[in-house]
Amino acid sequence: MTRNSNQFRKLIAAAKAAQKNAHAPYSKFPVGAALLTKNGKVFTGVNVENASFGLTNCAERVAIGKAVSEGHRKFQALAVVAPSSNLSPCGACRQVLAEFGEMIVICADSRNLRKQRVYMLSELLPHAFKL
Ligand code: THU
Repeated sequence: MTRNSNQFRKLIAAAKAAQKNAHAPYSKFPVGAALLTKNGKVFTGVNVENASFGLTNCAERVAIGKAVSEGHRKFQALAVVAPSSNLSPCGACRQVLAEFGEMIVICADSRNLRKQRVYMLSELLPHAFKL
C-alpha cells in the first residue's frame, strides 16, 4: 500500500462514511475509523459515548473489536477522521492497535480530507507494552 494509493483514499472515505454514525452527544466530536485487513477487508468504527463518560469507546477500538471478533488479526492500515487538523489516536488506542503489530495510521480532518498525516503505528507508540 503506497502513500497515495487508491486503497488509501478508499479507506479514508470509509472512515468518513462511518463518522456519521458516531454517538458523540457529550463531546460533539464525531470520530470515524476504518481498518484495512491484510486480505483487503475493511472494518469501520465510531466513537460510542456514554452518560457515564469514562465508559466511552473510541472509534479505533470499536473498529479493532469488530475486526477481531470476526476473525481478522492482521492489518495493513487504519484511517481515522474527525473535525480536527491535529487528530491522532489516544494512548489507549495506540496500545490496543499495537497488540496486532505494525500498521500505517492515517489521520485526516473530516472537514477537509486533503489535510491528512500518515504515520507508522510504531512511531506513535514506540516501546509498546508486550508480554
Ligand atoms: N476519540 C476517538 O474516538 N478517537 C480518537 O482518536 C480520539 C478521541 C473520541 C473519544 C470521545 O468520544 C471524543 O473523541 C472526544 O474525546
